[in-house]
Amino acid sequence: MYSSDAVPISVPFLDLVTPHAELEEELTDVFRKALRTAGFIGGPMVEGFEKDFAGLCGVSQCVGVSSGTDALRFAIMASGVRPGDVVLTVPNTFIATAEAISQAGAMPEFVDIDERTYNMSIEMLRQCLEEHCTRDTSGRLISLRSGRPVTAVVPVHLYGQMADMDSILKLAEQYGLTVIEDACQAHGAEYFSKKLNRWMKAGSMGRAAAFSFYPGKNLGGCGEGGAVTTNDATLAGQVRMLRDHGQVKKYYHESEGYNGRLDAIQAGILHAKLPHLTMWNAQRRDRAATYDRLLANNHAVRIPYEPLWSRAVYHVYVIRTKDREGMMRHLKGAGIGTALHYPVPLHLQKAYALLNYSVGEYPIAERVAAEIISLPMFPHLTAEQQARVTDEIRVFTSETLFKPAQSEQSSMVSARLGA
Ligand SMILES: Cc1ncc(COP(=O)(O)O)c(C=O)c1O
Repeated sequence: MYSSDAVPISVPFLDLVTPHAELEEELTDVFRKALRTAGFIGGPMVEGFEKDFAGLCGVSQCVGVSSGTDALRFAIMASGVRPGDVVLTVPNTFIATAEAISQAGAMPEFVDIDERTYNMSIEMLRQCLEEHCTRDTSGRLISLRSGRPVTAVVPVHLYGQMADMDSILKLAEQYGLTVIEDACQAHGAEYFSKKLNRWMKAGSMGRAAAFSFYPGKNLGGCGEGGAVTTNDATLAGQVRMLRDHGQVKKYYHESEGYNGRLDAIQAGILHAKLPHLTMWNAQRRDRAATYDRLLANNHAVRIPYEPLWSRAVYHVYVIRTKDREGMMRHLKGAGIGTALHYPVPLHLQKAYALLNYSVGEYPIAERVAAEIISLPMFPHLTAEQQARVTDEIRVFTSETLFKPAQSEQSSMVSARLGA
């Protein structure tokens, strides 16, 4: 696909300039308002955003904090996970998920993922609880790997698609585990709960959830930011204390806490962007459906799978192919940006060498990590840009190997289009 002067158009992985240019006046007003009132910390801008973000997520409480990492750490601490506990999560996530667990004093242990959704595998979670844990004499669930009590699970709604929450919540209830959602990539994503017989928003199903407002997220600030959502007012109160040096009242500290507040300017910016989130998510879904259609007959790539119970918000659009490095090189040469989410699963990261995991322990996460590529995905992505991306993929894959059965690929597309 070529622009009018016949130069191939380049396609960035992410365009963060256009949405800010469109909202420049509103966003500048936020800054002006903060300057005129000197309301930089706390106050009505933070409270207004918290109220409306809670509304979007369908929960009663939202506490703005300084990042998604802090949101996770505070949610884990406030939900009663104790130093020395084990918290289960997936290996194919941003390191912040595991960092937050460690920084809360607990230890991350991993559960492999589902080959199609890339989210926590229910079978693997069950196997972990049934076969890799035991009960001690007081009935506590103990990890056979580390000998520590297992008290919580953090499913990650990776790429903007929710993990299978009904099944996770059921197992968690059976084993007495607290569930904290890592919804850092899933603002506005929905899950059809068969148990509740309705669509539920990301961040409304666990005991608490964490969101990130890093600039590239579906709802992103002009700097760092995060939030904890929950229906538990006591837990929200704990997070409010943790984000503000453990104080309930200025200079009266119930405990030590952190400097983890959401800036008023960031809250004002997020509040100004919030009314656009539903439309931006719909545009992302539309772009995903277009990619699906354009790639449906290319059997050298595997498109994302969206179960019928999922309404994903495509924080990123991830395909799989055998010669991932070759495809990335080809796309780069053609002026098309790509990214990897994530190249090395956490159990194989140097940072976790002390946990003594080895290659082959989480085979699905490892296989997926070697084959994934994130294609350009943002609400303002044009049809011309998408056609160029998929044309270049076609050029590259005309000689590749990876061929899922035709029927499998076609049924993924029909499921998506019918969802
Ligand atoms: C899955 C996941 N968890 C946690 C985080 C941490 O969020 P932040 O970068 O705002 O600290 C991110 C952000 O990239 C993320 O993608």
